[in-house]
Amino acid sequence: MRLQGKVAVITGGASGIGRATVLKFIQEGAKVVIADMNLTQAEAVAVEVDSLGFPGAAVAVRTDVSAYGDVEAAVALAVETFGRLDVIFNNAGIAGGKALLDHDPEVDYAPMIRVDQDGVYYGILAAGRQFRDQGTGGVIISTSSIYGEQAAELSFTYSAAKAAVISFTRSAAYELAEFGIRAVAITPGRVGTAIINQFSEELRTTFASEQLRNKMTEPDEIANVVAFLASDESNVINGTVVHVDDGYSS
Ligand code: NAI
Repeated sequence: MRLQGKVAVITGGASGIGRATVLKFIQEGAKVVIADMNLTQAEAVAVEVDSLGFPGAAVAVRTDVSAYGDVEAAVALAVETFGRLDVIFNNAGIAGGKALLDHDPEVDYAPMIRVDQDGVYYGILAAGRQFRDQGTGGVIISTSSIYGEQAAELSFTYSAAKAAVISFTRSAAYELAEFGIRAVAITPGRVGTAIINQFSEELRTTFASEQLRNKMTEPDEIANVVAFLASDESNVINGTVVHVDDGYSS
């Protein structure tokens, strides 16, 4: 029960890595706000939490992370429902992309930046203000990607946004340490979720072969690391990137 008494907002908590993290956090004793665009699926995860024997430990809210007001409202809901906030996991994201020279800037750049980059900025800002006002400190964990540190095919915009997540993390740690706030970014490699399942089976086999265990990472393997990063056991990990990529970047 490493997260006993802690309260978290998990964006993108309705699916994949986010859903696995909601379930892990609950089992570690936390209360969670599941903040996701897909309210139906977010509510289904909250029901799953109830049925696992933790009634009321999670609430779902429709949140578009590309709107600051929505992210602020998710933080406010955590405080209203559970009395405080200790952790935000800025994890909602979209993937995909086109060759750079085929871009329509209105379609292939701005919309993804709004979710994958601005969404994380908003999470840091809204949670950071709450942590400061509470006077308790807090932890900000944000999902970058292996592509945040390297170029890849069809990933011009995605890589830019995910690189910004790393930069935000360093700056937030630096600037917010005086309030007892830590910030950490994670870089997943290939995780078996809806984002990856949009690619062909052939490509997914190639993706898996790029990791040292020659298989896709399971979402709950990422969730285990996020729970550790959210806990006091990782107090000295701050302003840095934790690679959760099964050796992809080795
Ligand atoms: P997923 O597609 O299963 O989950 C993403 C969740 O984000 C969904 O529940 C979706 O409804 C939500 N979402 C999308 N746009 C949103 C918005 N504007 N506001 C609020 N919620 C929104 O995918 P997965 O893999 O769990 O993705 C989680 C994060 O992990 C993303 O940031 C992704 O870029 C990152 N990632 C995933 C990798 C993988 O191999 N699956 C690898 C590296 C990074």
